[in-house]
Amino acid sequence: MSEADVRIEPLANADVAAAVELAVRVLRVKPGDRGEQFAADITGRCRQMFVAKANGQVMAYGRILKLPADEAGPGTPTGYYLSGVLVDPAWRGRGIGTALTQARLRWAFARTGAVFYVTGADNTASLRLHAALRFQEIKRFDSERSAVGVAVLSQLVRTGSEVRPLITKE
Ligand SMILES: CC(C)(COP(=O)(O)OP(=O)(O)OC[C@H]1O[C@@H](n2cnc3c(N)ncnc32)[C@H](O)[C@@H]1OP(=O)(O)O)[C@@H](O)C(=O)NCCC(=O)NCCS
Repeated sequence: MSEADVRIEPLANADVAAAVELAVRVLRVKPGDRGEQFAADITGRCRQMFVAKANGQVMAYGRILKLPADEAGPGTPTGYYLSGVLVDPAWRGRGIGTALTQARLRWAFARTGAVFYVTGADNTASLRLHAALRFQEIKRFDSERSAVGVAVLSQLVRTGSEVRPLITKE
């Protein structure tokens, strides 16, 4: 990330509306309960959201939250999951998704030894981004949330500077 004016920060109440607007504009979705979910990331003990800002404007965000077993998909373990990283298309390819993920990993590894994430088997950008951070695939499962009907569960384990899989691939 070369832009000196890009900052990664925990979400503040003043940023919630801009983060919702980003989701609506880029994902072409209705706001739904995103405002409430994002606000809960600020106050919740087991969840956090980070935003990337350029010149004070939110142009990316990434969330992390603790989920119970089977919440992210069938057979998924309880634990902290990266969730919903989104970078404005105009700002992609500059390391911002990676920086948001590193900020979430720093936050999570102060609380847990393993971080999980699920993405569609066709989401090459997401799979490469996380593989570059040494996430390892654990398993695949059928998922309606993926255009190809298959989702990938991956994990990063922290053992000091060492990274190793916690669960053996099936
Ligand atoms: C996935 C996403 C967050 C990546 O954000 P980004 O800021 O562009 O990512 P980065 O610049 O940090 O890229 C890091 C690495 O990811 C991979 N990557 C990113 N975009 C890619 C693309 N379009 N195609 C292939 N690989 C890609 C590359 O390996 C890249 O490293 P490199 O630049 O050295 O080649 C962004 O494309 C996005 O918002 N997508 C839509 C939402 C989404 O799919 N989120 C993930 C849900 S799990």
